Amino acid sequence: MTQDELKALVGQAALQYVVPGEIVGVGTGSTVNKFIEALASMKDRIRGAVSSSLASTERLHAIGVPVFDANDVGELAVYVDGADEIDPKGHMIKGGGAALTREKIVAAQSRQFVCIADESKLVPALGAFPVPVEVIPMATARIVRQFAAMGGQARVRMKDGAPLVTDNGQHILDVAGLRIEHPLAFESEVNQWPGVVTVGVFAHQKASVCLLGTSSGVRTLTY
Ligand code: 5RP
Repeated sequence: MTQDELKALVGQAALQYVVPGEIVGVGTGSTVNKFIEALASMKDRIRGAVSSSLASTERLHAIGVPVFDANDVGELAVYVDGADEIDPKGHMIKGGGAALTREKIVAAQSRQFVCIADESKLVPALGAFPVPVEVIPMATARIVRQFAAMGGQARVRMKDGAPLVTDNGQHILDVAGLRIEHPLAFESEVNQWPGVVTVGVFAHQKASVCLLGTSSGVRTLTY
């Protein structure tokens, strides 16, 4: 199976977690795009969605799903999103699509986080994938130095020759060279550095379930 087919497989499998009559939290990325395509088949049985990015909102609107502001709804039953890495406890690195802050907000508002990914994303420990960190631009140089002090090499993510600007109007640092043995402690520490909007380690908002696409079908991991 191609990676695209594996993504479609888990996107379809995630439908079983969507609660009819309710609002579903929707993440961002190529795997989530497959979930949104699958969601079209049950769009008339849900109230709508809370979206984690302008890109996903556009796709949800295109299939006729109403998108609510997170402030206008209460707790969500389920949030469906992809990951860049997931460890054996369900901690994740996210933010490859630069949507980490809104993703963490919607995840925090949801009772269950259903992670959908192909099996290449399952790792023994987080950190081979450079950790995305959304930062306020005036703090960039100091945050780069703080990561260097812990052995990380942080680079500003670029797009079309200029720093990428997130949906929140901020920048992204991608931090390579970290091996994150204690994701909860790492997330708590980096999140309190002045100028950090969100660190892309999801340990406090870890997955409840992971649907992994494998050549022999969907493997379900629960945490
Ligand atoms: C976006 C994300 C994505 O969920 C993550 O990058 C995985 O993306 P993909 O499904 O395209 O591999 O965190 O900010």
